[in-house]
Amino acid sequence: GLPAKVTIYEVGPRDGLQNEKGLVPTDAKAEFVRRLVAAGLPVVEATSFVHPKWVPQLADAAELMTMLGDEGRDLPVLVPNERGLDRALELGLRHVAIFGSATETFAQKNLNRSLDEQFAMFEPTVRRARDAGLDVRAYVSMCFGDPWEGAVPVDQVVGVGKRLFDLGASQLSLGDTIGVGTANQITGLVEAFVAAGMTTDQLALHFHDTYGQALANAYAGLQAGITTYDASAGGLGGCPYAKSATGNLATEDLVWLLTGLGIEHGVDLGRLVETSAWMAGVLGRPSPSAVVRALSPG
Ligand code: HMG
Ligand code: MG
Repeated sequence: GLPAKVTIYEVGPRDGLQNEKGLVPTDAKAEFVRRLVAAGLPVVEATSFVHPKWVPQLADAAELMTMLGDEGRDLPVLVPNERGLDRALELGLRHVAIFGSATETFAQKNLNRSLDEQFAMFEPTVRRARDAGLDVRAYVSMCFGDPWEGAVPVDQVVGVGKRLFDLGASQLSLGDTIGVGTANQITGLVEAFVAAGMTTDQLALHFHDTYGQALANAYAGLQAGITTYDASAGGLGGCPYAKSATGNLATEDLVWLLTGLGIEHGVDLGRLVETSAWMAGVLGRPSPSAVVRALSPG
């Protein structure tokens, strides 16, 4: 049967905003994070300690985390390398996430490294984070298709994903960066990771909704026993280094599905919709989430 309880890993402030062209003020980002936490989201990924030239929108990562103070201490942040880790450690943060690529082309475009070289960057990053007592999440991107390489062999995804996880992560998030995957692929990849020795609670699913498959794919994940889902409030999101990556699975759409299925999630949908409607105002355009549009007044 389906799981009784699911953890929603909110990525709105990071994946949701990283692709926005107009700079969002730091205090609006802080308010976004606080409102998401107040809406009951158990995990809110706050920002990225990447190179500021690569993702200008998140160049204020240190200011944001300083502004959040104690409220931000347990929120995860992306770190690609030791420099990013040092910046997170200086602020006393406790949860970091590395992000690898299942394909050669995206490793080059997103990390300026080859598929193989990325491990040399992540290995000391994870080792030092673990030595300092931090929790580490690992992402693997382009799990279901790559805009330059097309189909990505399942064996390749499992090989890269396991290698990233085995550096010392507590969870591996399987990313459909460009939203091309379909339900059968989700089932197949989860089965392949389980066959390779991982458990369903070590895996998370990270969907972008480019082809409108995200919610169907989440349902496939539930049927396969996965209990952690990444989602972005209001369906914001995209990766600046992956052409054709649009918004993430909208948290509201996921919450609607889970509630309908009787699966516990702990999120107050009304407060979440208000937050996304407010952020849509900050960004100056309506939310792409169907549930936000259905539940917003006016
Ligand atoms: P690089 O140019 O190869 O970096 O970039 P480098 O190691 O050669 O260093 C060059 C200079 O940058 C040095 O300064 C470093 O100190 C500095 P210099 O000595 O020349 O003065 N530097 C940094 N400064 C601040 N913070 C840092 C940092 N690192 C180096 N962390 C790098 C390599 C990985 C840094 C770069 O490619 C990068 O920042 N990439 C990030 C791209 C990104 O953020 N993409 C979006 C997130 S991934 C995503 O969205 C997918 C996901 O959602 C899952 C999915 O959907 O599939 C997670
Ligand atoms: Mg993403």
